[in-house]
Amino acid sequence: MKVKKLSIESVREQFPSLKRKVNHHPVIFFDGPGGTQVPSRVIRAVSNYYRYYNSNTHGQFQTSRQTDHIIEAARNNISNLLGGEGPSNISIGQNMTSLNFAISRACSRIFKPGDEILITQLDHEANRGPWLLLRENGIKVREVKLLPEGVLDEEDMRNKVSENTRLIAMGMASNAFGTVNNVLLGRKLAYEAGALFLLDAVHYVPHFPVDVQEIGADFLLCSSYKFYGPHLGFLYAKPGALDNLPVDRLRTQDQQAPFRIETGTLNHASLAGVNAVAAFIAALGEGKSAREKMRSGMERINVHEQELLKILFNEIAGIKKLRVIGPGYGDAQRAPTLSFVHDSVHPEYICTLLAEEGIAAWNGNFYAIKAMEVLGLQESGGVVRIGMSMYNSESDIERLISTLKKI
Ligand SMILES: Cc1ncc(COP(=O)(O)O)c(C=O)c1O
Repeated sequence: MKVKKLSIESVREQFPSLKRKVNHHPVIFFDGPGGTQVPSRVIRAVSNYYRYYNSNTHGQFQTSRQTDHIIEAARNNISNLLGGEGPSNISIGQNMTSLNFAISRACSRIFKPGDEILITQLDHEANRGPWLLLRENGIKVREVKLLPEGVLDEEDMRNKVSENTRLIAMGMASNAFGTVNNVLLGRKLAYEAGALFLLDAVHYVPHFPVDVQEIGADFLLCSSYKFYGPHLGFLYAKPGALDNLPVDRLRTQDQQAPFRIETGTLNHASLAGVNAVAAFIAALGEGKSAREKMRSGMERINVHEQELLKILFNEIAGIKKLRVIGPGYGDAQRAPTLSFVHDSVHPEYICTLLAEEGIAAWNGNFYAIKAMEVLGLQESGGVVRIGMSMYNSESDIERLISTLKKI
């Protein structure tokens, strides 16, 4: 079935920050992979929380009960977004990194010297550092090689899984190059080895519909500030996966999933914002259930972003001195994130000139530092990254290209 187009004008209307000007130029945000802009209804929901509902949880009084309801609704909404079994499989954290550290610390208590973990050279450091720490406990951490094209070496991945592998941790999409990884291969290898399978979906969830039950991951992590919401992280854990994990916790806290990995008081106002994001995405789509609407909303976002990506690829290809780093358009499924380097101009200088024209884009390694080192880009300042989000338009690309041509 053909996916309906997003109405880009009505989408843009909902993001107040898009009305800003920088140096008299209307601002363009291509920095979505670092965090997207936020629609008005999310901003209102966060502020209304402090106006009407502010309290701690599990009290007998109205604001406390309303806060309990907001938190439960946020778990439910994220479960619907990811295609999970329900709210009891969604844990809430400060961000993806701290949740991943909590899981890795717990694993360090159950994995034994000689056990192995497989990570990748392409991943953001948030899905490498927490696992590399386990080397201190005698656990061997192996790394899937990154190929010069910015994709993982699948043969190497197969070769590095053994009967000692206890966990495979990989990204679904690269925040540096837009590469979408073969998670079905990861899942198969993990299953055959009897290993846990953990996915960093931070760069994937904002751009593609997800069905975590179909993927079959034990753990999947994402962050709502990458998909139009507040700064929070979420963990999906398969039923039972969290129950036996010896995570850091107080005896006063609920020992059951999904609460057992959550420490202290959550960010209630931001969770109210997450509920507004869910309503925003659902309103873009159609269907009977909340899940169907959100899935359909994500499909429309995906189609819009992929159209922009195609245009951007064609335009960048026309600028001789630029070299795209990562898979080409049409090589494979790809996130709408395009990175490039110039023959002689430093990425920081390019982004400074773009910024003067009101165009926000990141330069550097974006914490995918290992990938930049492997590709020999770290010393030369990394890459320029153009990250497209649902509110970007063709005219944003036109302005970007004409500015790049001037440079
Ligand atoms: C692919 C990827 N993984 C993990 C992270 C870390 O996320 P958080 O800031 O929620 O810890 C990021 C942040 O940029 C990312 O892009």
